[in-house]
Amino acid sequence: MTTDKRFERTLVTSALPYANGHIHLGHIAGAYLPADIYVRYKRLRGERVLYVGGSDEYGVPITLTALKEGVTPQDVIDRYHNAHAAAFAALGISYDIYGRTSWPLHIDTTQAFFSKLNEGGYVEKQTMELWYSEQSQRFLPDRYVKGTCPKCGFEDASGDECENCGAQYSAQELKSPRANIPGDNSTPVLRDSAHWFLRLPAFADALKTWLDSHPEWRANVRGIAYGWVNDLRARCITRDTDWGVPIPLECEDIAGKRIYVWFDAPIGYVTNTRQWAIDTYGDESRWLEWWKDTGTRLIHFIGKDNVPFHAVIFPAMLLGQGDYVLADNVIGNEYLNVFNRETGKSEKGSKSRGNMITVRWMLSKVSPDALRYYLCANAPETKDAAFDWDEFAARYNGELCDVVGNFVHRSLTMTVKNFDNQVPTPGPLDDDDNALLAFLPQQVDAVAEALDTFHFRLAVERFIEIGRRANQYFDTKAPWVTRKTDLERTATTLYVCCQVVRALCNTSAPFFPNAAAVLADVIGVTLPKGGPDGGPDGWNAAKELLPSGAPLKQPVVLFPKLDKDQIAEWAEAHARGEAQ
Ligand code: MF3
Ligand code: ZN
Repeated sequence: MTTDKRFERTLVTSALPYANGHIHLGHIAGAYLPADIYVRYKRLRGERVLYVGGSDEYGVPITLTALKEGVTPQDVIDRYHNAHAAAFAALGISYDIYGRTSWPLHIDTTQAFFSKLNEGGYVEKQTMELWYSEQSQRFLPDRYVKGTCPKCGFEDASGDECENCGAQYSAQELKSPRANIPGDNSTPVLRDSAHWFLRLPAFADALKTWLDSHPEWRANVRGIAYGWVNDLRARCITRDTDWGVPIPLECEDIAGKRIYVWFDAPIGYVTNTRQWAIDTYGDESRWLEWWKDTGTRLIHFIGKDNVPFHAVIFPAMLLGQGDYVLADNVIGNEYLNVFNRETGKSEKGSKSRGNMITVRWMLSKVSPDALRYYLCANAPETKDAAFDWDEFAARYNGELCDVVGNFVHRSLTMTVKNFDNQVPTPGPLDDDDNALLAFLPQQVDAVAEALDTFHFRLAVERFIEIGRRANQYFDTKAPWVTRKTDLERTATTLYVCCQVVRALCNTSAPFFPNAAAVLADVIGVTLPKGGPDGGPDGWNAAKELLPSGAPLKQPVVLFPKLDKDQIAEWAEAHARGEAQ
């Protein structure tokens, strides 16, 4: 047992996706699948772990979608929130709560954050010049105005940020501005507008001290975080919009303004934890330990573009509250691009190119476990990766099916058939048997070590290695031959194989929950559910031996192979833009 208080409980978050478009594979590879694997692993170990997610439902893009479609913002967020929840459920992303920032409770949490920062002197009012459309009689926040980027000349740049070069600038710098609202492309004028700013420089020292205490973080995250912390400026946390959390101030200036979505969104993690406590225990105070007790390890899983918010701005907001824990790690992933078979190059997934693959489309074709395997084995951890159909089929078929699935299947089929549906009784063990039996617990620990340090590609590779070693053993021992000549030898071989199957069953659970559940049923093993209150250790149970005589059911194919022709068909549909 560790006595380190930091390990009493782990709170895991995945970025809250905007309720403004379907979840695609890029999202999954970055912020969701690694988090889910980690959480399932922690649950299986019996550690206390809570996994919080939800939809991000405010912000200017959502109101623009509503305007374009002639529906209300509420219609837009309902549609995508429900679609997100369904996509995550289908893929087995196992949130303890999947909430919504449109919940009334979230107004309370967000306003409390804002007020506390304001009382602490961390919020200041500034008057700024912003684009205003006289035709629509409104200010034009963010994407409501378009123009030419002052840095790169891109002609479709937004009001404060360029999609092409990533530059951020203030409104006045935008060249040739035009309103970007259905029915209004007028040339806007600059007008004064009062807004509230978070005084980030006030947190510089505390943020630096905190970052300095985490040399173990990924280099990409640390690099971005230090870049920001060394150059902090006050940041506007309100917008001219009516779609957002109301500003908790009593003054005339707040008319027509709301809290900026990037202020309220991460607070959604807190709101959803509160709601989870209410739903689970009927006792709201049960959320407090997860955010305010120093025994909590807070881990954020995000895509790289979200690093400044999770490694600088949100931590500053938490510091300003005075009694919250700060993240113990921020797992920021690079991007999953899309391999284009025609050009032979990887390209960015983008709506306008039509090359994205949504989770709901993909899961209408392939199993969740197949998709989870490829996205984990090919995760964009330290550099960008690309989704490639041929590689997907080759890796899933050649590794998960041929190595792990095939081993499990041939071992169990032969055992069930020759040994009366039971784990056989072994004779004397030889060197091969002992070597494999010794390898198993070592490799289970090696997979754990990779998961504990957030190396998910390595973890799944080490998992596959169990299957590789076991297949070599199986081929060497050739039980299909010894079956006719030496029944005791065959029993010993298959006894050892059953132990491998047991180790594979438990260790596969974080990665492939569906296959693990099926296999557990076949070999009569219980995989503990675990959760926020902890539970028995089902991970180290992978090292326990199945006793001789334990009953086995008829094996089932765990990982059905993908058919080459089907893959080709789907790849073509994707190329035609049908995977959206
Ligand atoms: N909606 C944002 C995005 O998709 C992520 C918000 S993460 C949170 O980029 F911390 F703000 F919730
Ligand atoms: Zn630009």
